[in-house]
Amino acid sequence: MDIRLLRPSETPPYELLLLADPSRHIVDDYLKRGECFLIEENDLTIGVYVLLPTRPETAELVNIAVIESRQGKGLGKKLISHAIEQARASAFKILEVGTGNSSLPQLALYQKCGFRMTGVDSGFFIRHYEEEIWENGIQCRDMVRLQMDLS
Ligand code: COA
Repeated sequence: MDIRLLRPSETPPYELLLLADPSRHIVDDYLKRGECFLIEENDLTIGVYVLLPTRPETAELVNIAVIESRQGKGLGKKLISHAIEQARASAFKILEVGTGNSSLPQLALYQKCGFRMTGVDSGFFIRHYEEEIWENGIQCRDMVRLQMDLS
């Protein structure tokens, strides 16, 4: 299963992208500023992520998602490994990722892939999202920031 770049003429896989971030406005902003990578099986997009340049020498992995029927089978890890290689190949020195305080499996996954926690953007999800978000019985209020040194 190869991972490839979304072509400019193609429609982005919104259903999948919106699994990772419920805001179409934010997803469109990421797509405009970053590069979207896809993993496909029999012409169906089963995984996606966006690599977003943020500050000098720094990129952020955003919008990573795997279709529900294929979650838990290693595709998320495969996408993250690809993002790390891609960021290195583009000479970024730091790769960041952010997730909600309530996103427990994601916090586990990112740390298993080598990301370390660097901070908390307190109240991020309260400020930027109109609807309340709840996961694992916890309200999602704060963004946990993680990063990986690529040098
Ligand atoms: N505690 C410890 N480890 C956990 C865990 C928990 N509660 N929940 C999951 N994990 C681990 C799994 O054990 C596995 O690690 P292992 O291989 O060492 O066992 C890893 O996390 C999951 O890996 P993988 O199968 O590659 O992930 P995936 O294909 O399911 O993809 C997501 C992960 C997050 C991309 C996918 O679940 C998804 O699309 N979720 C919805 C969108 C989303 O939340 N995106 C991220 C926004 S921040």
